[in-house]
Amino acid sequence: MDNQANVRRFCPEDYVRVSEIDRECFEYSYSGDAFRTLMASRGYVTPVKGQVQGFVLADFSKPQIEIQILGVAKGRRRAGHGRNLLRFFQSLVEGDSSEYNQIHLKCDENNDDAIRFYSDIGFKRTALIHQAYMEFHPPRNAIVWSYKPCATPAG
Ligand SMILES: CC(C)(COP(=O)(O)OP(=O)(O)OC[C@H]1O[C@@H](n2cnc3c(N)ncnc32)[C@H](O)[C@@H]1OP(=O)(O)O)[C@@H](O)C(=O)NCCC(=O)NCCS
Repeated sequence: MDNQANVRRFCPEDYVRVSEIDRECFEYSYSGDAFRTLMASRGYVTPVKGQVQGFVLADFSKPQIEIQILGVAKGRRRAGHGRNLLRFFQSLVEGDSSEYNQIHLKCDENNDDAIRFYSDIGFKRTALIHQAYMEFHPPRNAIVWSYKPCATPAG
């Protein structure tokens, strides 16, 4: 397993690779000027030996972190990169002095890989939003997921 990736902020040089991953991951690609600007302000990547393997676009609204987009390169899946990326955000909500207490995100209810992934890394389903993805015909529902750190026993 190739899980030596670290997580760092996106930089402009990552854009070509991140766009490539985005197009591999999503039927409706996010790439474009708006996506580049958003990634520059709150994007994160996992590089391994200089090559980006996956990316996240996150929104930080205290006390919550919303993961808005997560994608791992097609040929690099099941190698722990998605887990590493989300582990980085999970560590931000853990710890008594953290300003954040929860991560939440949505995924397409037909996205079996993502459903297995989020369940495996400790997220819980909290809601279903009907017809959340109107770009599909018929519109698709979204599962809402949340991650909260385990309460530490008092004393
Ligand atoms: C979902 C996604 C981000 C997972 O990334 P990944 O790097 O492949 O995931 P990891 O290797 O870190 O997987 C961690 C664990 O999640 C589970 N998992 C991940 N993908 C899985 C799959 N396709 N089938 C079954 N379990 C899976 C496994 O338990 C895995 O642990 P294991 O490999 O030791 O068994 C990736 O499949 C992806 O980019 N998909 C396309 C874009 C997408 O759907 N993004 C999410 C939209 S909300």
